[in-house]
Amino acid sequence: MQAFADDSNAQLRALIARRVAASPGGRLNFAEFMELALYHPELGYYATHPGRIGGRGDYITAAHLGSDFGELLAVQAAQLWQHLGKPERFDFVEMGAGQGLFAADFLRHAHANLPDFATALNYRIVERSVVQIAEQRRVLAGLAVHWCDLEQIAPDSVAGCFFANELVDALPVHQFVVHRGELLEIYVALEGERDFVEVAAAPSTPRLRAFLDRCGISTASLGGGYRSEVNLAALDWIEAVARRLARGYVITVDYGYTACQYYAPQRQGGTLACYHRHRVHDNPYLHIGNQDITAHVNFTALETHGTACGLQTLGFTRQSFFLLALGLGERLAALGASGAIANYAQLNEALRRREALRTLIEPSSMGDFGVLIQGKNTGLDLPLAGLSLPAQTLS
Ligand SMILES: C[S@@+](CC[C@H](N)C(=O)[O-])C[C@H]1O[C@@H](n2cnc3c(N)ncnc32)[C@H](O)[C@@H]1O
Repeated sequence: MQAFADDSNAQLRALIARRVAASPGGRLNFAEFMELALYHPELGYYATHPGRIGGRGDYITAAHLGSDFGELLAVQAAQLWQHLGKPERFDFVEMGAGQGLFAADFLRHAHANLPDFATALNYRIVERSVVQIAEQRRVLAGLAVHWCDLEQIAPDSVAGCFFANELVDALPVHQFVVHRGELLEIYVALEGERDFVEVAAAPSTPRLRAFLDRCGISTASLGGGYRSEVNLAALDWIEAVARRLARGYVITVDYGYTACQYYAPQRQGGTLACYHRHRVHDNPYLHIGNQDITAHVNFTALETHGTACGLQTLGFTRQSFFLLALGLGERLAALGASGAIANYAQLNEALRRREALRTLIEPSSMGDFGVLIQGKNTGLDLPLAGLSLPAQTLS
């Protein structure tokens, strides 16, 4: 679908074409293509501009809807700190921090309203993009934040919480297609010198078949032409996080499904989506370097692989229930309270905020995002505030 002119970064397109031509068999698997398109260190989508996310970018995330998301997460994190026995140091490691807005909201709320927790807080950001880090340093100037690579965090050293909002959907995915009951992988090849075409061939790694087997998916039952994604990087990510966690929690927020929903026979085109100037479409070969490419998260895979790596699943819910349980409903009600609105400026501001809060919990929007909370060496029976409303199971 091409609704408007392609604005690919010509240098990146040429670089990827050269990589395709030079690779064995003259093709890259889709995950390798997506890795270059999003994360090539000089030319990739996330490497070239700090304003990719937001009203003037290609898409928004929860932190662009106001400070409520970060503030309510601070409330949840303060309870996790209490559950760990109020240690003197509570590590909060945000992974993939975008423009740093979430961290600013979280930290300001903690310092203003949760002073004992704020004193214990050791806020770290793990961010892959150098350009995003520069933007985060600007936005977070004056706030106590440290930046590091995941590799710099020693095994079993984190006591606190890993947090990721819309990170896992941005990790490069493999794509597969079922042909006559057989599992084939999608590769990107060249037609001529610079036009990309897809070819289907034997998988580049046995991990694809093993992943689908673990999800209980038989490719024979999916039907010819069925196409979807496998996020092996998500498994590597949860494993790396679990290894570094000594005691505490992992909170993953993202759009996604359980494995059964993900590979439902009727979802035969998969979940890959591209975002370009707030329009969504399904062609990753347009706007290369100037559009986001994402795939929904398979939460069952995160849970089962997390369990294999020593994490326990403490609960799974939807963002709507999670934020309502943490007090978003009270915030909505306060907007209409008598005395809160005395003039048109205040009325307009209240309406703007009401719309933002609604988007955070709207079932057809961010309210349907999944929230997975996993733990390691924590009390399994300690109630978590964000999970106190009816939760959804992952089975
Ligand atoms: C979709 S954005 C979400 C940003 C932010 N969490 C938010 O909600 O606005 C994904 C972010 O993750 C970063 N990222 C992608 N892969 C990463 C990785 N392996 N480690 C750390 N950061 C990563 C990207 O550079 C980007 O800042």
